[in-house]
Amino acid sequence: MQTIGVIGAGQMGSGIAQTIAQHGMKVLLSDIDRPAAERGKGAIDKALTRLVGRGKLQANEAEAILARIEPVADLAPMAAASFVIEAATENESVKQAIFERAGKILGADAIMASNTSSIPITRMANWTPDPARFIGLHFFNPVPVMGLIEVIPGLATSSDTIARTRALAEELGKEVVEVQDEPGFVVNRILVPMLNEAVFVLGQGTASIEDIDKGCRIGLNHPMGPLELADFIGLDTCLDIVRVLYTTTGDSKYRPAPLLMKYVEAGWLGRKTGKGFYDYSGEAPVPTR
Ligand code: 3HC
Repeated sequence: MQTIGVIGAGQMGSGIAQTIAQHGMKVLLSDIDRPAAERGKGAIDKALTRLVGRGKLQANEAEAILARIEPVADLAPMAAASFVIEAATENESVKQAIFERAGKILGADAIMASNTSSIPITRMANWTPDPARFIGLHFFNPVPVMGLIEVIPGLATSSDTIARTRALAEELGKEVVEVQDEPGFVVNRILVPMLNEAVFVLGQGTASIEDIDKGCRIGLNHPMGPLELADFIGLDTCLDIVRVLYTTTGDSKYRPAPLLMKYVEAGWLGRKTGKGFYDYSGEAPVPTR
């Protein structure tokens, strides 16, 4: 059985771990410490229990999936992995420390991938011992449900690494788009300016939170309106991405909406903090403006 290491057991990392285990592979799941990795596994347990409750999964299948996920206290056991996927905090020094440590542990043939949404792959590859075996592997939230992966080679990524990464993505049941290492890749480059624009529209008083979302849900046939989607992704993450687009291109079309900065400064980061453009503390979300 192929073993994959997943570093980071938050929303994305646990979704990635769940998806890998659902496809019959073994996962070593790490975070800052073992209890954090255990919490990630706990979130997966909850998601699987919901699927069992809705008749989408047999209880014994859920058990088998969970049994393939092993929370680990540290990266050392990942020496056994053929592939390691980093989905830690979107912070360069955190990622650099992870890649430098992983580089000392991983096998000579193992591939290291990052699920970054905004940090250049070529820059991160340089923090590893072999940039030819480093690549971007960008998943979408919720990972078990969303059908796409962006595969992003850096300048030095080898064709063998690209081929093995595409094969893994396909084994996970995902469609692949291969994208050059440019800010925001493809999907976030298009999506995040739209979310930012929705916040400008709100800040200018053009329409209410509910009507902006309703307009896009019904008028564009999107499953979520832009403000509820921003809350779902995390307003800090949206702001980080739009800032990267702005600073790397210098193009004013990417300037962050002042109201988005204000929500982030207030600590209203969306669903993960219980409040963003909506308040999630009650039965149904309530707009915060
Ligand atoms: N594991 C497995 N399946 C799951 C699951 C999980 N953890 N969570 C949900 N599902 C399944 C459900 O069982 C259900 O399956 P069914 O259709 O067979 O019944 C299906 O997913 C839909 O779930 P729900 O019925 O609970 O919820 P909705 O129908 O309201 O859909 C949604 C929820 C899939 C989140 C939908 O609203 C959606 O697609 N929203 C947009 C999400 C999006 O745009 N994501 C991309 C964000 S950008 C990004 O991630 C990039 C980053 O870099 C910022």
